[in-house]
Amino acid sequence: MNETADDLPARSAALTANQRCYDSLVAAEAPLCRPASDAELADPLGTLDPIGWLGGNVKGKRLLCLAAGGGRQSALYSAAGAVVTVVDISPAMLELDRQVARRRGLSPRLIQASMDRLDMLADGSFEIVVHPVSSCYVPDVTQVFREVARVLVPGGLYISQHKSPISLQVSHSRDVSSHYRIEHEYYRDTAIPPVTKPSSATKRLREPGAVEYLHRYEQIIGGICRSGMVIEDFIEPLHVDRDAPADSFGDRARFVAPYLRVLARRRGGPAAAVATTPKIILSG
Ligand SMILES: C[S@@+](CC[C@H](N)C(=O)[O-])C[C@H]1O[C@@H](n2cnc3c(N)ncnc32)[C@H](O)[C@@H]1O
Repeated sequence: MNETADDLPARSAALTANQRCYDSLVAAEAPLCRPASDAELADPLGTLDPIGWLGGNVKGKRLLCLAAGGGRQSALYSAAGAVVTVVDISPAMLELDRQVARRRGLSPRLIQASMDRLDMLADGSFEIVVHPVSSCYVPDVTQVFREVARVLVPGGLYISQHKSPISLQVSHSRDVSSHYRIEHEYYRDTAIPPVTKPSSATKRLREPGAVEYLHRYEQIIGGICRSGMVIEDFIEPLHVDRDAPADSFGDRARFVAPYLRVLARRRGGPAAAVATTPKIILSG
């Protein structure tokens, strides 16, 4: 098995598909592409960081919104006083940032690029990197963490959210025995197949036409550590709804947490010597 998934044709096909996917979602005015509302802008950090991982103040901080286009994150962090840069693969998502910035008198720097190649950004150029759910869109998440660690200053914060690996394995609807089923192998270096039996949960769990990769816990949690960061907190945001009907997002979340959220801090010294996930040997 190729652990680094350093497969250039696969990477480039995924990037193209995922850019198209988000360009289409913008055209369809999907919820993921909704800019910040007036109510959210009245309390930007309360909206973005209810747990308080950012310590309640980002004024003057150089902050990278990684894979976070769409006019929501850039507007809210700018309104909170941060000096914001957005990196996103989708020109349409970045156009939303541009429009919101113009309307609100904000001035984020907008860069069209993939989260795993940030050559245009200098080492140590951010105090904070925020990274909403999107690591599933690249085959090699290690490369993303390396880039994040490189662009952070020592002591800088990295807040990321990821699709949980088990959620990517599990069906979107209950079977005849009323169980959600594990459908996809955990140890894999190919993308997760398209959903065969969609349910009302699907629109919250998979984006239409996107190419998505399952990153194992050791690749996410271990990968962040091996890139020269220390994990300070870890949560699984709660989406359980016991009153929701079968096959809905809230019902499925009773059994499988859809997301992981991680707070990490860049260590003071250079990145750890072991910077790749140890190889898994599959027998049989
Ligand atoms: C779930 S959305 C996050 C932004 C959303 N507006 C929010 O507020 O949370 C995921 C974003 O990842 C971006 N994306 C997908 N693949 C990417 C890649 N390889 N590099 C950078 N951005 C990527 C998409 O264009 C999309 O804007």
